[in-house]
Amino acid sequence: MNHELLIATTNPGKLKEIAGILAGAPVTLLTLNDCPPVAKPEENGATFADNARLKARYYAEATGFISVADDSGLEIAALDNAPGVHSARWRGFDYPMKFRKIQELFRERGVTGSAARFVCHIAVARLNSIVFEAEGTIEGEIVAEPRGTNGFGYDPIFLYPPFGRTLAELDHAEKSTVSHRGKAFAALRTYLLTNPALAER
Ligand code: IMP
Repeated sequence: MNHELLIATTNPGKLKEIAGILAGAPVTLLTLNDCPPVAKPEENGATFADNARLKARYYAEATGFISVADDSGLEIAALDNAPGVHSARWRGFDYPMKFRKIQELFRERGVTGSAARFVCHIAVARLNSIVFEAEGTIEGEIVAEPRGTNGFGYDPIFLYPPFGRTLAELDHAEKSTVSHRGKAFAALRTYLLTNPALAER
């Protein structure tokens, strides 16, 4: 029998991506839409790991389900790893505006581009205990002109050098094979396949 695992997200795009990566793992995925409404926790951690852990514990305690939470973001080397854990709200919600701000900060620092990486930390909690964690990263470069229409967030300015394309020029499946989130959830899939008891309540 499959055990239930709550993916602590209401974002259908993210769920689709995660469901694809976890396909074949011995779990039935639930989302926050399958639970009574729960207020969002404040994501005030200093690191991706802190935020993933606090969200996983919060939702596990609120719902009683084993809960998986992730926290991710972009670290730009030339900007001292900004925007980091602030990626979603950094310099407004509008991505074209964020992209222009990045270029402006590059000019101020006398650089034309920068190495960058996406990081995704996932944590799985059973009530208050963290029972599994994994972190995935993807290394790339920031380009001046956004390219591509797939994906979301900073994807159009993140060049993945081995493919010579930005993440917004990859389709979902291709992105998952190399992305920070893809790698972190692939580690969870492997763990679930070898430790099916993880999802036992
Ligand atoms: P979250 O923690 O997964 O919600 O991600 C926080 C923010 O990081 C997002 O709102 C985006 O700005 C950025 N981000 C995380 N993952 C990606 C990605 O795969 N592509 C582009 N931007 C991302």
